[in-house]
Amino acid sequence: MQSRKIFVDACFGKETPYTPVWMMRQAGRYLPEYMAVRKEAGNFLNLCHNPKMACEVSLQPVDIVGVDAAIMFSDILVIPDEMGMDLSFVKGEGPKFSDPITCDADIDRLIGGDEAASKLTYVFDTIKLIKEQLADDKALIGFTGAPWTLATYMIEGQGTKTYNICKKMMYSNPELLHKILAKVTEVVKLYMEKQIQAGIDVVQIFDSWASAIETEKYDEFSWKYMVEIADYLKVKYPHIPIIMFPKGIPAFLDKVYGNFDVFGVDWATPMELAKEKIGDKYVLQGNMEPCRLYSKEATTKSVEEIQEVMGGKRHIFNLGHGILPDVPVENAKHFINECHRVSGK
Ligand code: CP3
Repeated sequence: MQSRKIFVDACFGKETPYTPVWMMRQAGRYLPEYMAVRKEAGNFLNLCHNPKMACEVSLQPVDIVGVDAAIMFSDILVIPDEMGMDLSFVKGEGPKFSDPITCDADIDRLIGGDEAASKLTYVFDTIKLIKEQLADDKALIGFTGAPWTLATYMIEGQGTKTYNICKKMMYSNPELLHKILAKVTEVVKLYMEKQIQAGIDVVQIFDSWASAIETEKYDEFSWKYMVEIADYLKVKYPHIPIIMFPKGIPAFLDKVYGNFDVFGVDWATPMELAKEKIGDKYVLQGNMEPCRLYSKEATTKSVEEIQEVMGGKRHIFNLGHGILPDVPVENAKHFINECHRVSGK
């Protein structure tokens, strides 16, 4: 059996000869080969806009560390950028929007729907190029940010520790926040549909800042929009598995619902707990603490423990969030090899 089928089969909860593995942020700064292409591109956004280079860095982790699935190289923030916001990546400071959204008129000015989704042609071109070059036995993962996670950047103008501007809106003007979320959701649905048409095999929705919302409000301001996106895609493309990754919401496990296939468990949520609460309904992805990659011994221990809990069933190995830039490449390889070893590849 070919491993593309293995990755997709695993997403659908079918029995597979071994448990496939990939790593979030795998094309990141820990690879010298990535840094070389990034330098050539000049800046991060140029790299996102250049399909040839974006394809090259997407394929690097497959060749270098041996993951079972590639994730296309891009960023979640190209979506608000193409909706007309002004995105830049400031060295050492991360992403910035110079024109954060504060009122109705700001939302009305944003480009919506198919017009915005159609501007992301460089992403679709990247996908087509990757598909030409990716080995047949590897799956290609496409992705989006969840509307909530995207909205945090659109409202705050940058990454935040407190989310005070979005939360002020959440509690004092929820209609405005819903208006932003609904507009982003429409673009994301069509954007993901176009990624599927360009050739991705799997969808992942990143809700990296899920934990900023109190459990009681999480469905209203984030999860229901993610489910709306999944519903839209599932009706048209039932053969494409959908992975939801809401980071840091263990108390919401009791309330998880929706038509998707894989639940990405973050590193702070015990795998046993996720298995007990939702393991019958969804395949679980995860969830090694990414900083364990600094030690091979700590990595082996965690991989063995996760394998013991999951028993090679209804599981995809991954980190419980993105890999950090100063992780030694050989430790990243060790993680992949250990996942394969314990599951019998
Ligand atoms: O896994 C992959 O490498 C695929 C590509 C990918 C990137 N960003 C490339 C990237 C994916 C899937 C993302 C998603 C993303 N981007 C998320 C959600 C996932 C997560 O990590 O929680 C978020 C919140 C963003 C927004 C963003 N982009 C941030 C906060 C940063 C970090 C800025 C910094 O300097 O630390 C980025 C930049 C970014 N996106 C890098 C990469 C490889 C590093 C940029 C570089 O210096 O080359």
